[in-house]
Amino acid sequence: MRKKVTVVGAGNVGANCALRVAEKELADVVLVDVVEGVPQGKGLDLAQSGPVQGYDVTIAGCNDYAPTKDSDIVIITAGLARKPGMSRDDLLFANYDVVRSATEQIVAHSPNAILILVTNPLDAMCWTSWTVSKFPKQRVIGMAGVLDTARYRTFIGEALGVSVQNVQAMVLGGHGDTMVPLVRLTSVSGIPLTELLSAEQIEAIVQRTRTGGAEIVKHLKTGSAYYAPSAAAVEMAESILKDQKKVLPCAAYLEGEYGIHNLFVGVPCKLGAAGIEKIYEIKLTADEQTELNKSVKQRVG
Ligand code: 2OP
Repeated sequence: MRKKVTVVGAGNVGANCALRVAEKELADVVLVDVVEGVPQGKGLDLAQSGPVQGYDVTIAGCNDYAPTKDSDIVIITAGLARKPGMSRDDLLFANYDVVRSATEQIVAHSPNAILILVTNPLDAMCWTSWTVSKFPKQRVIGMAGVLDTARYRTFIGEALGVSVQNVQAMVLGGHGDTMVPLVRLTSVSGIPLTELLSAEQIEAIVQRTRTGGAEIVKHLKTGSAYYAPSAAAVEMAESILKDQKKVLPCAAYLEGEYGIHNLFVGVPCKLGAAGIEKIYEIKLTADEQTELNKSVKQRVG
């Protein structure tokens, strides 16, 4: 039987998630949005790219959840995006209702789905979806760390003039300005980053990573990033659908790992058919743990 991925929200992130799922032929796709006509139009347009691009999946757009029935994965992107000068947290009240009602619909139609949250403020929206769905914690996962790490790797690749494929790295913590790129564990084909760039250069890259989303909002003026966020969400979906067991930084519900209780925080996770199959609790230095605690505190307080 073919797999089904539902994407909630037919805006830029959602439509690009649908496109990437289709182009990789991971599953049939259902695109849902409350705005009449938009998911239908984009769904048709995406389906009609198939014969040219060579993908062979069905893509449907709709305003109701009936066609989403028995989805394997639901990627939730719906909600307002930031405008210049706004923080992700400024979206909390508007997006809470959007994510709550989407989650209720998903639970009713796809009780066994794995949820990947993209809507901001990410960590709070994961919490919302998890409490509303009452799904096991393994099946509610936030997309942030893969995106933040991709930004970090891009800046490192640029600074060194090397392939981004050779940059191994991991960004932990909340999806905000205090996220924690783990410099000590960053390498280029095994060569520690600290041997390749000066402390000042690394610090500049860390800061640029932390404000990487805002940098794009500032350029776009009318919204936030969508190519890299959709690529990140679909990498997570692919690892689950193909049971690849990739180890990726994801927002996961923590019950004591890293000394953090009852919160969604970005940590290294193994993603396979069951969702989050393992959380890796790596030994942090005192400074890294302090940074992580600061990041968590900022997301909560
Ligand atoms: C970003 O960082 C959308 O939060 C996302 O661009």
